Amino acid sequence: MIEKLNLLQQHALAALGDVDGLAALDEWRSQTLGRKGELSSLMRGMGKVPAEERPAVGQAANEVKATLEAAYETRRLSLAEAAQREALQRDAVDVTLPGRAAEVGRLHPETQTLREIYAAFADLGFQVYRSRDVELDEYNFQLLNFPLHHPARDMQDSFYVASPEGTEGDVLLRTHTSPGQVHAMREVVAQAKADGLGDNELPPVRIVLPGMCYRNEQITARSEIQFLQVEGLAVGKKITMADLKGTLHYFVRRLFGPQRKLRFRTSYFPFTEPSAEVDMDCILCEGSGCRLCKYTGWLEILGCGMVHPTVLRNGGYDPDIYSGFAFGMGPERITMLKYGIQDIRYFWSNDLRFLEQF
Ligand code: PHE
Repeated sequence: MIEKLNLLQQHALAALGDVDGLAALDEWRSQTLGRKGELSSLMRGMGKVPAEERPAVGQAANEVKATLEAAYETRRLSLAEAAQREALQRDAVDVTLPGRAAEVGRLHPETQTLREIYAAFADLGFQVYRSRDVELDEYNFQLLNFPLHHPARDMQDSFYVASPEGTEGDVLLRTHTSPGQVHAMREVVAQAKADGLGDNELPPVRIVLPGMCYRNEQITARSEIQFLQVEGLAVGKKITMADLKGTLHYFVRRLFGPQRKLRFRTSYFPFTEPSAEVDMDCILCEGSGCRLCKYTGWLEILGCGMVHPTVLRNGGYDPDIYSGFAFGMGPERITMLKYGIQDIRYFWSNDLRFLEQF
C-alpha cells in the first residue's frame, strides 16, 4: 500500500510538471486530490490493510496528501504570476507613442455657406423666413404666375405626393423656394390687416428664405434631385431694379471679394418681370478665361428679377402702390465655386472623407 502511495505521488508530481495553465491545474487537482480522485480511490482499499499496518499507511497517506497539496499551491502561485505578467505585457501602454487627436465636430459646408449668406443679408436688414418643403401646386406654380399646363412647368419635373383625399397632383415637394414669397407676403399682409392697417400702409418685406428643393431629374455631377436654394424677396414702395443690382453687388463682393464684377443677362421666369440671370467675373482667372468658367470669363450664380405684378397681387400687395425684387440662388453652387468642388453629389451623400475637409 505504501508502495502504491509513493508511486501515486511520483506520477502525480510528474503530471503536475506538465500542467501549463490554471484550467489544466484545476483538472489535475480534481483528478488527484478530489473526492473521486486517485488518492481517495486508493484510500478506499484501506479496509483490506491489516490493522497493525494501518497507522503507518494512514500517516504515509497524509504525507502524500500534504506533499501534493503543497506542490499544487506552489504551482498555482507560479502559474497565476505568469498569467499576470503576460496580461501586463499584453496590455502595456507605450507612453512614447504620439496621442490620437480627439475628433472635433464641425458644420456641414452648406451650413457654413448658409450662415455666410444670412450674415451678409442680415446686415442689409433681411430676416430669415422659413417655408414648407411640401407644397400645394397652387403655391409652387399657380400663384407664381405659372398657368395650369403652361410649358414652363416642364423646366421643373416635380415629385408629387400621394394624397388620401383624392387631391392627387395637387401636393408636391417644392421645386424651388419661390412659393415662400407668397407665404411670406400673405403672412405680413394678414397681420397688417389684423392690426387695422390699410392697403396703402402695408409694412415692407425683406427676407431671405432658405430651404431644400426637389426635382425629379437625372442625377449628375451638376444636378441633384435634392438641393438647397436661398430665395431673396424685398417688397415695398419705390423699390427698383437699381436696388436689386446694389443688393446683389454687395452680397457677391462680400462672399467672393471686393473686386467682383457682375453681369445681368435678360432671362425669363413667370414670377418676375423683367427677369435676369446674374454672372460674376470668374474667381479663378478674373475674366481672362479658364476651365472653371469654360473660357467665357463669367460664372453664373443666380436668377432674379422684379416681382411680377400678378405675384404681388397674389401676396396681397397692390402692384400700383408696391414693387419688389426677388432672387434665387443655389448654395451648393456657391460652395462649389468657393472651394473648387467638382461634383454636387458630395453634398448630400454623407461621406465623411468629404465632410471632414471643411
Ligand atoms: N425660382 C427660380 C429657380 O428655381 C429662381 C428665381 C428666384 C428666379 C427668384 C427669379 C427670382 O430657378
